[in-house]
Amino acid sequence: MNRAAGSHGSDSAEVLARLRELRELDAPTHGGRVLSYVYDAGLPELDALAGRAAELARPLNGLDPTTFPSVAAMERDLISFTRRALNGHRRRLGGPVVGSVTSGGTESCLLAVKAARDLWRRRHPDSRTVPRLVAPVTAHAAFQKAARMFDLEWCPVPCDTDGSVRATELIGHLDDDVALVVVSAPAYPSGAMDPIGSVSDAASARGIPCHVDACFGGLALPWWPGAPVWDFRLPGVTSISADLHKFGYAPKGVSVLLHRGRAPHRAQFFATTGWPGYPVVNPTLLGSRSISPIAAAWAITRRLGAEGYRELTASCERATHRLVRAVDGIPGLAVQGRPMGPVLSLVADESVPSVRRVDPHHLTDALTRLGFMIQHQPGHTQSNGVRLPHSAHLTITPVTEQTAREFIVALQSAADAVRGRRPASPVAALAAMRMLGYGVDGRVPGPSAAWAILRSVGVSKRAKPGDQAQLMALVERLPPPVAEALLCELLARIVEP
Ligand SMILES: Cc1ncc(COP(=O)(O)O)c(C=O)c1O
Repeated sequence: MNRAAGSHGSDSAEVLARLRELRELDAPTHGGRVLSYVYDAGLPELDALAGRAAELARPLNGLDPTTFPSVAAMERDLISFTRRALNGHRRRLGGPVVGSVTSGGTESCLLAVKAARDLWRRRHPDSRTVPRLVAPVTAHAAFQKAARMFDLEWCPVPCDTDGSVRATELIGHLDDDVALVVVSAPAYPSGAMDPIGSVSDAASARGIPCHVDACFGGLALPWWPGAPVWDFRLPGVTSISADLHKFGYAPKGVSVLLHRGRAPHRAQFFATTGWPGYPVVNPTLLGSRSISPIAAAWAITRRLGAEGYRELTASCERATHRLVRAVDGIPGLAVQGRPMGPVLSLVADESVPSVRRVDPHHLTDALTRLGFMIQHQPGHTQSNGVRLPHSAHLTITPVTEQTAREFIVALQSAADAVRGRRPASPVAALAAMRMLGYGVDGRVPGPSAAWAILRSVGVSKRAKPGDQAQLMALVERLPPPVAEALLCELLARIVEP
């Protein structure tokens, strides 16, 4: 049979058999083996319910909720559920908290920025200034994307090496030309909770909107013991993004963006009657929209209710504490900073001699070989020259509690296997890049050169490199535009027929 879709179709059983075969190559989405990307409640019943709800909604088009009122009803319920979790349901200064359901965290972040930019332009109709987007350097990359897409100046504020940012540093950047300041609850790379209270107060005093990116923590922190007040109870918080496809446990494709007040919400809309087709009104970035993830999220939130989330969050919390204790007992490895929520970033313990350190890139590779996947995070040199260390990210979900013992044994063995190994250094690839002048005067490799460099560090088209430490070491040592060209090439190649 033709492997790709050929001129003749295949029968359904064959098609599905092929899909199953393809899926066997994937990292396991269930069972706690992958500690990033997937958020597994560990409840098969919930998956079955989500699947049935998604199937019921499959033929719908979210483009027009007046034609399909079930879409509006489900979105209303999701907005209401999230708003209550984030304490936006009470009468609050600035008008009612309202919002939209989007396709994911990135879309929610993009829309928060787009709305803030449009409002800034309205407040400064004669200004030719490019407005600024201010955030700690640890704010999700979606905000850099937003700045590029919507023509704002991206102003990343340096953090300390533990991943935390000082409120005074952020506040020092707030001026008239700032369209939006972003803080995270918590930041994905380090798990640090940004100083949301003081930054939102300072922003509000200057008339600057403050967005809390709770895409990661939005459906976990409301039930996390000891979390500080970070949501709509703070009067200076003007918008919040929270992903239902993360700790809401819904399948991918659903997030919520909430605004304090109707006018800021409406600023995210696009509408036109200026063409000969149907009047277009898009509250979000997409036109036609799949409602399957929304229906799945709707079903899950109804099935679990706030109490169900509280229980699942308690499981995440127990697992997180257990992993922290385990890491504390592993020589040469440390938890970065003081994370808040179901997330840990592992770094080499700089307080011990290098022969006893555990390099996070090597650790991640070794753990993959033992059947557990955590996520490489390259080191990052900030604008002030302070380097944030490379690290390994762990997202902790309820299923982590079920596999904690096995995971900890694997973590200890992986650490033992790599302890004292020097960080990877792709000397030959770096020398070749220098010789070819990449990074000088904005020179970046084209598709063929980029692919040749990737091949030299073990990347191939069909499989993830077994040794990602080399690739990560290359990425963190290259000028960002060169590294970005390489990574774009990697993603482009793997889907090239
Ligand atoms: C804090 C935060 N914001 C935004 C995003 C982007 O979300 P998505 O991958 O759903 O687009 C993420 C993803 O991990 C995140 O952790």
